[in-house]
Amino acid sequence: MDERWRADLALWAIPDEIAARARTNPWGHSPARFAERTDLALADLGGPTLERIAEALPQGGGVLDVGAGTGAASLPLAARLGELIAVDTSAGMLAELEARAAALGVPLRVVMGRWPDVAAETPAADVAVASHVVYNVPDLAAFLTELSGHARARVVLELTERHPMSWLNPLWAHFHGLVRPERPTVHDVIAVAEALGHKVCHEDRLAPLPRFTRLEDLAESACRRLCLDPDRAEEVVAAVVALDMWPLPRDRWFTLWWESS
Ligand SMILES: C[S@@+](CC[C@H](N)C(=O)[O-])C[C@H]1O[C@@H](n2cnc3c(N)ncnc32)[C@H](O)[C@@H]1O
Repeated sequence: MDERWRADLALWAIPDEIAARARTNPWGHSPARFAERTDLALADLGGPTLERIAEALPQGGGVLDVGAGTGAASLPLAARLGELIAVDTSAGMLAELEARAAALGVPLRVVMGRWPDVAAETPAADVAVASHVVYNVPDLAAFLTELSGHARARVVLELTERHPMSWLNPLWAHFHGLVRPERPTVHDVIAVAEALGHKVCHEDRLAPLPRFTRLEDLAESACRRLCLDPDRAEEVVAAVVALDMWPLPRDRWFTLWWESS
């Protein structure tokens, strides 16, 4: 199961001759964009992922947020949190998270590094969360095993139904003649977790926010992800209109959870 996941994910690699043209990392995430997402989550306080975490979190309990980014999946629970342990590979993301945790008065422990490599130096918590991370993770079974091993009560994942770069597939075909993969999907994550012996529950919903509110933002992002020169943004806009892609349909977001004992 895990091998299938790894192989399916590997098919998303960008061919070397295209990647060589990239001006910036085509897989990079902007801390500013994620900070905006966290601030919206802090203002809203809703959704099944936060509910599933809150259910298993005693007042004053601890959450381990792996691939925490700027904290969208954990900081909205500030009022209940006795400790937040945030793991991420990105210093920029963690800096945004630290500023928000301080403003909310949430005791924070930061572990910078790649999960599961840093698992041994990371304390356990009542609930372990990984939100919008697993499509970055080739060794999914090891990732989930360490996550479960660090959760006293529950593991909660949030992810899109399909690979989060799937919205670009028609543009890959248009600009590079490349057919992108259909897998893996959330159903493969469930299969890997079940193969590890977990009884996985799930719930899905339409993404609470559109991926882009302005066509220009989509074009800028598409140039980076498709390794196109930024001055081709207008060409991207024309292609998006011709391919009838705008507005982008919202993704389906899944919340998966299981009890750790
Ligand atoms: C798409 S962002 C999601 C951030 C946040 N969890 C959210 O829901 O907004 C993915 C984050 O996971 C981090 N990341 C990806 N793979 C990781 C890994 N194996 N270990 C630790 N962090 C990882 C990235 O640096 C990034 O900050």
